[in-house]
Amino acid sequence: MNIIGILFLIPAGLLGVQSVEIYTEKPPYIESCRIYEPEFTKCSTRSIQAFMNQVTKGIPEIEKSFGQIDPMKQEQLVFKQDNSDVASIAANLTEMLISGFGKMVIKESKVSKKDFSWLTKIYLPKMRMDGMYKMVGKILLVPLRGAGKIVLEIDDLDILMSTKTRLYERAGFTFYNVTSVKVKLEVGKVRTNMENLFNGRSKEVEEGTNQFFNDNWRDLFEALRPLVVETVERTLLDLLHKTFSIFPASFFVEDIPNSLTLYGRKSKMITD
Ligand SMILES: *[C@@H]1O[C@H](CO)[C@@H](O)[C@H](O)[C@H]1NC(C)=O
Ligand SMILES: *[C@@H]1O[C@H](CO)[C@@H](O)[C@H](O)[C@H]1NC(C)=O
Repeated sequence: MNIIGILFLIPAGLLGVQSVEIYTEKPPYIESCRIYEPEFTKCSTRSIQAFMNQVTKGIPEIEKSFGQIDPMKQEQLVFKQDNSDVASIAANLTEMLISGFGKMVIKESKVSKKDFSWLTKIYLPKMRMDGMYKMVGKILLVPLRGAGKIVLEIDDLDILMSTKTRLYERAGFTFYNVTSVKVKLEVGKVRTNMENLFNGRSKEVEEGTNQFFNDNWRDLFEALRPLVVETVERTLLDLLHKTFSIFPASFFVEDIPNSLTLYGRKSKMITD
């Protein structure tokens, strides 16, 4: 890897800012596109796909701040939902391992000329979440109280991702601050298994319930949808925020305006 292209920003002493490495030279695996020219979306889709392939293969600076992409670890998720017909659950998921993002297909990558937000269509042939759960509540009218291993597997996952960004300047480059990620999900098929659903009181009832959930997987997914959406949003926000604090936005969108031009005087500049 080409070390010369990386600038090491030393912590700014007083503020105790974490040291961040940024690329100051565009690596060859990034294709630049021009947003003010025709066919930008086509170019951007191709560019982001190739870039994500490289991220999956491993970019040391991303692995250092984010960890491995596939499978990826996620810290705990605390989840509560009371206002739904199909589910009222409080769940904690811990020790989560999410697989499938390595086979991410970028179907379309649009960037807004107005505010440089993104609209991205992503497809995953398969996503799998493994973890430990703790759950109290009701799913499909089944009262649950248990803790144990959970596996959730989704085939043919379509993700429509809306990403908000704010541009800023650093070391003479324009960067994206990825500030929010919202997703809409469509699934082909869902399988789950939860061990110890009734605190181990009856193995048979547990198996029967898991079977029931899988027989009614569409309803089950609707019940769990907010939980899955939150997991995917958090994962993508974390990944994208970290990735785009390392790679300047101008590597991807060559003719991106700088933040001063886009926002006027209210823009933010980091001088370190
Ligand atoms: C989840 O964790 C929170 C705090 O960590 C706790 O207050 C809550 O009771 C837990 N929920 C379940 C269902 O265990
Ligand atoms: C990015 O945005 C967040 C808030 O959304 C803010 O706290 C943070 O300081 C911003 N980072 C940069 C580098 O502008």
